[in-house]
Amino acid sequence: MCGIIGYIGNQDAVPIIVEGLKKLEYRGYDSAGLAVCGADGFSVVKQKGRLDALEIRLKQQPLSGFAGIGHTRWATHGEPSDVNSHPHVGQQNRIAVVHNGIIENYQEIKEYLQQKGVTFHSQTDSEVIAQLAEYYYDKELIKTVVKLSRRLEGSYALGIMCAAHPDVLVAVKKDNPLIIGVSAHGHFIASDIPAVLKHTNQVYYLEDNEIAVLTAQGVQFFNTELETVSKKIETVSWNPEAAEKGGYPHFMLKEIMEQPQILKDTIANLLSGKGAEVMQQIDIKKFTRVCITACGSAYNAGLVAKYVFERLLRLPVEVETASEFRYKDAIIDEQSMVILISQSGETADTIAAMREAKRKGAFTLSIVNVVGSTLSKESDVCIYTAAGPEIAVATTKAFSAQLTALYLLAVRFAVGLGRLTPTQAKQYIGQIQSIPKKVAEILQEVDTVQRYAAACVGYKSVFFIGRNLDYAIATEGSLKLKEISYIHSEAYAGGELKHGTISLIEDNTLVVTLATVEKLYPKILSNAEQVLSRGARVLWIGNAQTDDYGGRLVQLRLPPIEELFAPSLSVIVLQLFAYYIAANKGLDIDKPRNLAKSVTVE
Ligand code: BG6
Repeated sequence: MCGIIGYIGNQDAVPIIVEGLKKLEYRGYDSAGLAVCGADGFSVVKQKGRLDALEIRLKQQPLSGFAGIGHTRWATHGEPSDVNSHPHVGQQNRIAVVHNGIIENYQEIKEYLQQKGVTFHSQTDSEVIAQLAEYYYDKELIKTVVKLSRRLEGSYALGIMCAAHPDVLVAVKKDNPLIIGVSAHGHFIASDIPAVLKHTNQVYYLEDNEIAVLTAQGVQFFNTELETVSKKIETVSWNPEAAEKGGYPHFMLKEIMEQPQILKDTIANLLSGKGAEVMQQIDIKKFTRVCITACGSAYNAGLVAKYVFERLLRLPVEVETASEFRYKDAIIDEQSMVILISQSGETADTIAAMREAKRKGAFTLSIVNVVGSTLSKESDVCIYTAAGPEIAVATTKAFSAQLTALYLLAVRFAVGLGRLTPTQAKQYIGQIQSIPKKVAEILQEVDTVQRYAAACVGYKSVFFIGRNLDYAIATEGSLKLKEISYIHSEAYAGGELKHGTISLIEDNTLVVTLATVEKLYPKILSNAEQVLSRGARVLWIGNAQTDDYGGRLVQLRLPPIEELFAPSLSVIVLQLFAYYIAANKGLDIDKPRNLAKSVTVE
């Protein structure tokens, strides 16, 4: 989604803002711009295209100033264009705004202002904010912002500057993330931590309808009653390198390689840290049903969790994409637990699903990676994964961390329901604790996957099949391949092949077969033979003894593990498989076309 950064201090704001925007590129964007505020008003440079194009423009049209706001735009209203880029400035050139989110009542505001003689230049909802702010402005900037926040409907994170107050930068948010950074040389507003990490690890998380007023000297917070709000400053544990590539060609490979460590951190936190306390608070006996809802890979993690929860808890578990859940009038109530899984904690559909669940009285538990995100704050309880900043759009380490959190939750709930004795639980937990080491073992053997993947670059379509847990994780393997290699792919329950898909199997069709569920080996092997006999090639991921069918079946084995947790191992192979195919195709792996790291609008 869009990225915002603002700076006010004793250094030139322009290079700081451009640098900060680069750290927000992963959010997906099509345009970029910035404005600085000097004594004689605003200077604005903004245009469609990538940040390096903006930098070229800035060399031709240099700007400087001690206060400024910057923006990367992911189009929602109005196509990507120079005029639709942010910052937007009101017609009197008095107020400049950068916005992340969607103003749902922008049409009526726009019509109202047009009747008052205001001329609009863009097709965006965001321009309405700047024009309305100017319309309201009556020399008191903060009062103007309060009035503005009361009129706007929808979601927004705003950076606001006013030419009459060049020494002030104002921020306000609702349903969209915004942090306030405090450094020795100046103060920041930003959509996300990596944008400011080079300058500070001291941040405030702005809450909805709080107003932050930044000057070079400090930061003040007000509520919409203009009362001062005191806030606790947080120290971000991520160091600047953590948000850099660390020598890898892509963030995605770095994040794949980080998995042993972040899984260890996540498991430790959930066994003895804050996460453990949160889990202990939950009395699973109060609930008669569990629903899991999420988007994208997080939804796939929910599919894996369904099998693990149902196997251990013997409770029915529904899994639903959040975009469906939010509108389905779900049959849930006070005796329902709704688990929301989200790396960013800002995915609009997942937030809406949470609010719908709360509206129906259900208990909401979120599993989130970004501290201070909307989901983490609004759900009844939140369990944090400790995956650190995940920059690549296609999630890997956060997904794996979600799986381990879900496994531990399942074991804890199973003990709570008396389905597992403490001794049995200990054995399962021991298996979960072995995951990081086993993932590391797989990561030491990447060359086998790399070689196989290099030969797969030409495929136009790839199938992933599995049964039970293997089917669930096959959906993630398929999504990974689609996301970053742009190769069409489908994940199928092995037993479903004969009901349609098998008609698509031709000579050399690639079928990636997951085979870790022991009791179903004969069944999935028979599915593999069905496609092999029709000319397919099979990548067999699992330890069952099998023939190589004249070289057409290649087997990749996994370290042995309790089969409930095998998805955490097979997914590593699937991530590497997708990564090396995309790398061999020379694609923009960290920022795949049309995708965003977090879709904070519907
Ligand atoms: C997509 C991301 O936009 O959103 C996926 O590209 C992610 O990687 C999905 O799984 C859900 O995002 P989140 O932040 O709610 O897990």
